[in-house]
Amino acid sequence: MAQSDVLEQRADDESDKACNQGETPRTIHFDVFTLFPPMFLGALSESILARAQEKGILQVTLHDIRDYATDRHHTCDGYPYGGGGGMVMRPEPVFRAVESVLSRPSGWRLPEEANDCQLPPWNRDEPTILRQPVPIVLLTPQGRRFNQEVAAQLSRQRRVALVCGRYEGVDERIRTQLISDELSIGDFVLSGGEIAAMAVIDAVTRTLPGVLGDESGAYNDSFSDGLSGLLEGPQYTRPNAFRGEAVPEVLASGHHARVERWRREQSLLRTLKRRPDLLLRATESGQLTLEDRQFLSSQGWQAPTDPEGLFLS
Ligand code: ADE
Repeated sequence: MAQSDVLEQRADDESDKACNQGETPRTIHFDVFTLFPPMFLGALSESILARAQEKGILQVTLHDIRDYATDRHHTCDGYPYGGGGGMVMRPEPVFRAVESVLSRPSGWRLPEEANDCQLPPWNRDEPTILRQPVPIVLLTPQGRRFNQEVAAQLSRQRRVALVCGRYEGVDERIRTQLISDELSIGDFVLSGGEIAAMAVIDAVTRTLPGVLGDESGAYNDSFSDGLSGLLEGPQYTRPNAFRGEAVPEVLASGHHARVERWRREQSLLRTLKRRPDLLLRATESGQLTLEDRQFLSSQGWQAPTDPEGLFLS
């Protein structure tokens, strides 16, 4: 199955009902597997993510993969078979950590200062049966591209495991036998998956009802459905005039319909200039009105055509 089908299929799967949520209130629990748990503390203890946790919408449990390595030095890396530079993340501590945690209720974590003897029993040779299917996501530059749509898909899950790769890569058996999806936050290489995992937690959490103070929530964020997947246009606040540049008159006019039309046109214009690829997607998915398309044409946009030369509506 293609990686991109995994979340979609999970959302559709009858047997997965317990793990999915239909209506509000929606909550999400992330189990994060990392060699560097402290990296997350700052991001989780401020602003929107902190408030989402206070409201009980977001829960994050950090798991130190090193705690699950049972040799004397808690080794989590090894030399690559076949030689070559760099080290590779070993499978046992990752499998042991993920299987031990996900076969227990959300929120379970190894007791502080647990020693190797206190690790839960684990079978090295047989996969552990999980209580419910949980997406197990590896953060890697080789994954499918994370975007707002994937964030929305993930936000329908109750529990998600994020596995942060480190070193020069992970043993392939982690991919083939443990991971259900791989995500990348862009075509660049970070020193590990932690920063990418934080980006995923943040983007997913802000889509959940009740997280943003504003009643429209993330619905009008750039890339979101409320904006037809387009970029958000310019925003202004006080003062009205600043360094010779005044706030567009329409915004202070109090004329709601004109303000909305102006905002829509600015969103279309900004997307046309910066991300014309998004206009193509919005056209193909029927999210542009006739008025939108006429406005874009007046700005020099060439409407895409299908192979028969017909206009795509
Ligand atoms: N780990 C290293 N680079 C990454 C990226 N671009 N996205 C996700 N995880 C990563």
